[in-house]
Amino acid sequence: MAVRRLCPDQPAEFAFTAENMVWARETIAKYPPGKQASAILLLLWRAQEQAGGWLPEPAIRAVCDMLDMAYIRGIEIATFYTMFQLSPVGTTAHLQVCGTTPCMLRGSRDLVAVCQSRIGPHAHIPNADGSLSWEEVECIGVCANAPVVQIGKDTYEDLTPERLEAIINEFEAGRTPKPGSQTGRTASAPATGPTTLSDKTLYDGSTIGAWRKRFEETEGASDDAAKETQPASALASPAHKAAVEQGTSPSSPDKTASAAPIHPAALTAMANAGLVKELNERGDGKALSSGELDRLKSDFIRDRAIAAARAAAAKPELLTEPRDGKADDLSLIWGVADKMVEKLNEIGVWHFDQIARWTPEDVAWFEARLEGFKGRVTRDKWTEQAAKLASGWRPENKAGERPKD
Ligand code: FES
Repeated sequence: MAVRRLCPDQPAEFAFTAENMVWARETIAKYPPGKQASAILLLLWRAQEQAGGWLPEPAIRAVCDMLDMAYIRGIEIATFYTMFQLSPVGTTAHLQVCGTTPCMLRGSRDLVAVCQSRIGPHAHIPNADGSLSWEEVECIGVCANAPVVQIGKDTYEDLTPERLEAIINEFEAGRTPKPGSQTGRTASAPATGPTTLSDKTLYDGSTIGAWRKRFEETEGASDDAAKETQPASALASPAHKAAVEQGTSPSSPDKTASAAPIHPAALTAMANAGLVKELNERGDGKALSSGELDRLKSDFIRDRAIAAARAAAAKPELLTEPRDGKADDLSLIWGVADKMVEKLNEIGVWHFDQIARWTPEDVAWFEARLEGFKGRVTRDKWTEQAAKLASGWRPENKAGERPKD
């Protein structure tokens, strides 16, 4: 790429039009105090547009003054980015031919030859009537559709010399040819046609509601899969969860909750888990209309959520004091330090057999009361350890014995 230098012929001065000045002030105001310099690309670009497609040196200084920047900073930016033209360009079109490796391998040298023969032998020098100019630039980010030419804000892709000639003809005739791939491919899809997302029904609207069909088709899936489903509480809508947390009873279902829309993904998850079978059984084996099915699904989720909430509300057995005034040494459970023993006693847990009987719901209840503790009871197998200790077994180590995985 040629060294980018300022044009020796410069106008004496530059000033934004009143309209552009209003825009510039508004643009600068969008940046936080002390960060106004970040607006420089936008202001230089607007100055270039106002100046007829190139950026005179007085415009760079004017922008730097507005942003309280050293002129050299503005010069550095303007000379670095090829989006800024440092000398006058063609009034109709300035062609920027990408010459970086992918485009070069795909024929950009031939495109440069077309520019040289149709516009002029030298880059940056407009043709005789000043309407067209060209230059070679580095990668403009459309490599998949190489070779590429950028003209103004558009890119012309998948070019051949013949196609570029035709494009130049169009500009000369005062028309703007259609930008994008010149071979008709969509975006950067393979030249032989798209290989993914090629199902036309994805775009014609006919698949809206397809989840319902999938849902119905999975009726009768295995109960085993149901065990792997998410907890119903996780599938319930926020409205359901709120209703449950507020203690709405199953005999007085919350109408808002049961009418709340269910996300299709949640329905699909349920369907995949084989819950449809259960739902349909609630309909006494009748073929269900989609409305009936929706109502049953809502009821199902609500009931599951309520059951989960009730389970979470269940407390483990708690005592106000140790039986016969003698507590078990809970620190023999590996992972339970003295501080934890104190907390357990405060809560009402004094004996190994109490912990040995904890259900998953009891563990959840317990963990909810000890912030930052989640997972330790299960990970350290407290209930297994407690069961062994309750049966009389004792570890060799006073701090307990790490349970085997
Ligand atoms: Fe030409 Fe990237 S190499 S667009």
